[in-house]
Amino acid sequence: MSTPTELDTIIDGLLRREKMISPKYFYDEHGSQLFDQITHLPEYYPTETELGILQDNMDEIVELVGEHASLIEFGSGSSRKTRALLGSLNDLAAYVPVDISEDHLLESGARVQREFPDLEVLPVVADFTRTFSLPNPKFTPLKNVVYFPGSTIGNFTHDAAQDLLNVMYQEAGENGALLIGVDLRKDIAIIERAYDDSAGITAAFNLNMLRHLNEEFGFDFDLSCYTHNSHYNEAEGRIEMRLISSCDQIVTAGDAEILIGEGEAILTEYSHKYTLDGFQEMASSAGFAVERVWTDADALFSVQYFVRA
Ligand code: AVJ
Repeated sequence: MSTPTELDTIIDGLLRREKMISPKYFYDEHGSQLFDQITHLPEYYPTETELGILQDNMDEIVELVGEHASLIEFGSGSSRKTRALLGSLNDLAAYVPVDISEDHLLESGARVQREFPDLEVLPVVADFTRTFSLPNPKFTPLKNVVYFPGSTIGNFTHDAAQDLLNVMYQEAGENGALLIGVDLRKDIAIIERAYDDSAGITAAFNLNMLRHLNEEFGFDFDLSCYTHNSHYNEAEGRIEMRLISSCDQIVTAGDAEILIGEGEAILTEYSHKYTLDGFQEMASSAGFAVERVWTDADALFSVQYFVRA
C-alpha cells in the first residue's frame, strides 16, 4: 500500500457522506487575490479591526515581546499586520515565517527581507500542525514568540485547534509566548454579512476553489452549477461556508467518479468565533496563561498574549 497522494485526500473528502474540501484550496494565486479583496471589504471587519488593535496597543506589545525575541509566524506572513508589527518590534533576534507552501513562503520572506534589511529572516518550510525544528539565528533569541494573526485558528475544529495550541506551546519553548488574533462571538448579522458581502467577492472566493481543483488536479466541476452559501451555526459558534450544487453531476478526477446530486452541499470552510473565556480555556489546556487581551471598542475582535504557565 502506498501513501495517499494529495489528490487521494481531496477525493476522500468528496466521497464522504457530507462532502468537504479543505479551505487550504482557496489559496491559489487568484484565490489569494480574492482574499486580499475580502480584507478590504466594508463588511469584512476582522482585518481592519485586528490591524487597529495592533496599532493602538503597539507600545505595550513591544514591551511584552521584549528585546532579542524570535518572532515565529505560523503562516507565510507579509500581511499588513505582520509588517506593522515588524516595523515596531526593534531588536528582534529573527523573524521566522513557517509555511508548507515553499514558493509562497520564500516569495513573501524575500519581500519582508527587502522591507527590513537588518532583520534576520529565516523561513521554515513545514506543516505547522506538527512540531518542526526551529532555525538558529545568529543572535541567540532570549525567547520565542509564536505569532498567529488573522483568526486563522478559526478554520480549525476545536480538537484540531487544541492540537495546534499544543504545537505552539512546544515551539514557544521555555520563556516562550503566543501572540494570537482571535475573532469573537457577536451579533450574528454582523458575522453573516462578513461572509456574504454585497459585492459578491466572498462568493467568488468560495467558487474559485472548484476552478483551482479543476486546474491543478484535473477535476471537471461545472462551475455554473454551484452557488455560494454561508450560514452561522449558533450551537457551534461558527460560520460554515458551502458550495451548493444545482445540478446532478458526475465529477471525475483520474479514475475517480464522484456523484453530486442536485441540492447537495460541499463544505469548504469553518470559521469559528470564540468568547474570551472559551478561548482562554483552550489555551490553558495547552499550558498557556493569559497575560494580556486587547479588543477594539466594539469587542468585535481580540488580540491575545499568552505566556507558558
Ligand atoms: C483567513 C480563515 C481567517 O475565516 O475569516 C474570509 C477566511 N473566508 N472570508 C476567515 C475567509 C471567507 C478567513 N481566515
